[in-house]
Amino acid sequence: MGRTAFGNTEIDTALRDAKEAYTARNPQSLARYVDALGAMPGGNTRTVLHYAPFPLAMARAEGCRLWDMDGQEYVDFLGEYTAGIYGHSHPVIRAALDRALDGGISFGASNTTEATFARAICDRFGLERVRLTNSGTEANLLAITAATIFAKRRKVMVFEGGYHGAVLGFAGGGSPVNVPFDYVVAPYNDVETTRALIATHAADLAVVILEPMLGSGGCIAATPAFLRTIREETTRVGAIMILDEVMTSRLAPGGLQSVRGIVPDLTTFGKYIGGGMSFGAFGGRADILDMFDPRRANALPHAGTFNNNVLTMAAGLAGLTQIYTPEAAVALNARGDALRERLNAACRATGAMLQFTGIGSMLAVHTTRRPIATPADAAAGDQRLKELFFFDMLAAGIWLARRGMMTLCLPIGDAECDKLVAAVEAFLASRASLLAAPEAA
Ligand SMILES: Cc1ncc(COP(=O)(O)O)c(C=O)c1O
Repeated sequence: MGRTAFGNTEIDTALRDAKEAYTARNPQSLARYVDALGAMPGGNTRTVLHYAPFPLAMARAEGCRLWDMDGQEYVDFLGEYTAGIYGHSHPVIRAALDRALDGGISFGASNTTEATFARAICDRFGLERVRLTNSGTEANLLAITAATIFAKRRKVMVFEGGYHGAVLGFAGGGSPVNVPFDYVVAPYNDVETTRALIATHAADLAVVILEPMLGSGGCIAATPAFLRTIREETTRVGAIMILDEVMTSRLAPGGLQSVRGIVPDLTTFGKYIGGGMSFGAFGGRADILDMFDPRRANALPHAGTFNNNVLTMAAGLAGLTQIYTPEAAVALNARGDALRERLNAACRATGAMLQFTGIGSMLAVHTTRRPIATPADAAAGDQRLKELFFFDMLAAGIWLARRGMMTLCLPIGDAECDKLVAAVEAFLASRASLLAAPEAA
């Protein structure tokens, strides 16, 4: 792992010291972790939240700030992996939830908010129909399954490094817990190979699903040509194109697809659209979605106890219509673009092997100077330096994903962006010798 020419010991020593300091600062988080080991495998119930030596446990949050169990304060630059766009306890979301709670929960019936929420999602993202689920994983499972039934074909094209949910992960070629669709795994951003694979499997290819920017795969954007090719080739061979905008729908008022000028057959959603509650949705062409119309004799079933739960309906509707308006989406993503430019300017100024990829309000750090178009390009960076970046950011009061992903939530302002830039500049200065190494050819 990693291809720096720098001696191993210096990086390993810096990392060991950073982890020792982290352990010393966080005795309460450590105690919680040790206790959790007794009931949960590895003390964990969401794999991405685990890291060695032990994960921080947060005790409280407000606005764009978090406090851990040992009382240390962080600016929340993780934003719950894009789901936390409203920050913590936004008054409008809070009021919507309070009103919903006052009216009682879990009716076991249709309610007065679900159709208004569904209409708001359709209007915002240009969908003919939408169905609501409890997670992005569920949305993708149902969208893929619907596409295979609609197309009367079996093969599902996915991309190396893509992520579509707990049982649909394609980093490193796939995951043993993936659901057993008949996959064709294609290389992300490789136009010609993908075109050839679509042609090879044309007769049995039901669906091509991709993120218009890899999110968990490192904030690596699809090139416009790659997206265009997939749109053209799926249309040519009669396969369904699904854009997974679970993360990226926040990047523009109509989602990233609207910026790229791509109209997929289906789009999947999740994360922030539920206003901070559990959420997922899949929508798009009426002729595909209407297979679920229960008035039809041969209707496909789509169950889910909490699909229309009143808390998600209330928080999601308030968030999408009153807070994350099209204007707010434009402003937040402009702030993100400006922040990423400042961070990359600081990296370039020092010649360090550090860069930030992404679009708008989503960014990810990588420990290489080389251009990044694929997950393999990102993996070529020294992963220990990325780990060091993570621990140094925590020490500076910045909360981010262990894998280096960051997102902006609405309460983040100039002061918080300045704080992140200062922390990154301090990292570039204090770790200069480690980040200066030439990269092997
Ligand atoms: C692109 C993408 N699709 C789907 C999912 C799955 O969503 P959920 O965690 O709500 O199941 C995620 C979650 O990170 C995601 O990033």
